[in-house]
Amino acid sequence: MGYPNPWRQMPEPYNQYIWQDDAHIFKLELPDLVPASANNVYAELGIGNGGLITELARLNPDDFFLGIDLYYRQLGRSARRIHREKLSNVQLLRYNANHPAILFPNHFLQGILINFPDPWPKARHHNNRIFDGPVAKHLRQILKPKKGWVFLQTDQKPYFEGACRLLEKEGFTVCQKEYPPIMPELIRSPFHSLFDSRGDVVHAVTAWV
Ligand SMILES: C[S@@+](CC[C@H](N)C(=O)[O-])C[C@H]1O[C@@H](n2cnc3c(N)ncnc32)[C@H](O)[C@@H]1O
Repeated sequence: MGYPNPWRQMPEPYNQYIWQDDAHIFKLELPDLVPASANNVYAELGIGNGGLITELARLNPDDFFLGIDLYYRQLGRSARRIHREKLSNVQLLRYNANHPAILFPNHFLQGILINFPDPWPKARHHNNRIFDGPVAKHLRQILKPKKGWVFLQTDQKPYFEGACRLLEKEGFTVCQKEYPPIMPELIRSPFHSLFDSRGDVVHAVTAWV
């Protein structure tokens, strides 16, 4: 018998930042969740400890940020940050981010950030890969047709090249080494800082709709 996951039931006040219900309900509720006054809406797929999404939310109080992660622990740590920093423009969802059109209405997002996605090398885990199968089609569907973008960065070269191919095939304009306006290179996600400290090469691309 396994141990219960202590992160699964986050207590108040942290649970107010984490959406754990059915993805279809999340999608229906999204227009109410995001204030009409929000300038732009961005999503990060795979938020880790929430270091980046909270930093972006703090720097851009007129925008709204939605963070998706598979793991309760990551969501719990991120919720603590959101609360500590008193941010009211971030909401989190526990879900597999590899079918994002299930989660977001069409043409809802201005930008999507994917920072250092896990490569999930074992075949039995491929369903957890964010860049696989029809994901580029989903991304195009949920992005704003005007100036919508996906930003991907990773240390995994084959993964990066495969993702660029998927994005190009779906008709995105792929600009390697380009950082989108909300995410200049100087803003580092926690994993980016880690790879920098090790001197690892980081591959980055912005793909425009
Ligand atoms: C290597 S960490 C990077 C975290 C953060 N983006 C950063 O750059 O510091 C990858 C994150 O993606 C999450 N993740 C991996 N596969 C996922 C999936 N299919 N759906 C949602 N989250 C996923 C993991 O739980 C983890 O938090």
